[in-house]
Amino acid sequence: MLRSRPELERLATLRASGALTLVPTMGSLHEGHLSLIERARTIGPTLVSIFVNPAQFGPGEDYAAYPRDLAHDLELIEPLGVDAVFAPSAAEMYRSADTVRIEPGTRADVLCGAGRPGHFAGVLTVVAKLLNLLRPEVAIFGRKDAQQCLVIAEMVEALDFRVRLIDHPTVRESDGLALSSRNRYLGAEHRRRAQALWRARNGAREQREQGEREPARHRRTMARQQAETDRVDYAEIRSVPDLITPELAAGKILLAVAAQVGPARLIDNLVLQIDGQRITETALLAEGDDR
Ligand code: PAF
Repeated sequence: MLRSRPELERLATLRASGALTLVPTMGSLHEGHLSLIERARTIGPTLVSIFVNPAQFGPGEDYAAYPRDLAHDLELIEPLGVDAVFAPSAAEMYRSADTVRIEPGTRADVLCGAGRPGHFAGVLTVVAKLLNLLRPEVAIFGRKDAQQCLVIAEMVEALDFRVRLIDHPTVRESDGLALSSRNRYLGAEHRRRAQALWRARNGAREQREQGEREPARHRRTMARQQAETDRVDYAEIRSVPDLITPELAAGKILLAVAAQVGPARLIDNLVLQIDGQRITETALLAEGDDR
C-alpha cells in the first residue's frame, strides 16, 4: 500500500508493464467498486485510490460521518489481484494551506452542482491531483455518478490531461437500488422507499418507448414516481454530454433523479441513445462500457 508521495516512485514498474489503470474511490467499497476494479484488471496493471476528499463535502454534509474502514476495504479487494493501493491521509493530499481549486465548466452548474455549491470544484481538484500524482493511462468511474463523469471528462479535455476515461455500468441490488456507500445509512423502511428512484427513471424510459418526446412530461413522470421520498432534489432529462435541457427527448440523453430518503441523499440515472424508434441504454463517454 502506498501512503505518501515518495512511495509513488514504485509505480514506475507498473507503468512499464502495461496501461496503468486507476480506479479512484472514497473507500467504503461495495460491489459497484469491485466491478470497476474487475474492469480495470482487463485493461492493465490496476491501481485503486482510497481517499475521502474533504474538498468535495459542503458545510453540513456528511464528511465526518462518511463511512471509513480501510482494513475492510483492503480485505474486499485482496482477492481481485489489485497491483497497488494509494491511501493518503488528508494532510498528505492537501499539504499546505493552499486555496487553489479547479473551476468546473458549465456542466457542473445543474443537477447536483446546483444544490451542492463547490462540490464539483472539490471533485475536480482531487481528481486532477490524483491524475498528476499517479499518472495513469486509463481512469474508470462509475456511471451512477453520471454528472461527475461528464464534469471530469470536460476537465480532462479542456486541460489536456493525458488519460483515457471510461464510465462503467452501475451495479444494483436485486430490488433495483443503485449500490452506493450511502445506502448503509438506510433502514428497511428507507430501503423500500428508495426504490422510487429506480422506478422514476424506468417510468420515464417506458413513457419514451411509448412515443412521448416532451421533456416536461418526462420530468413530471419522474417527479411523481418519487412521491414516496422525503424530498425530491431533481428529476431531470438532459442532453449528453453538455447537460442542457433538450428540446425533445432524442439523441443521447440522461434521465437523472436525486432525492432525500431518511438520512441519505440518493441519486440514480439512466443514459439512453434514442435514434428514431430505437432506444438503447448506453455509455456516457466514448470509451465507456456499453449497456
Ligand atoms: O466518486 C467518488 O468516489 C469521488 O467523487 C472521487 C471521484 C473518488 C473523487 O473523490
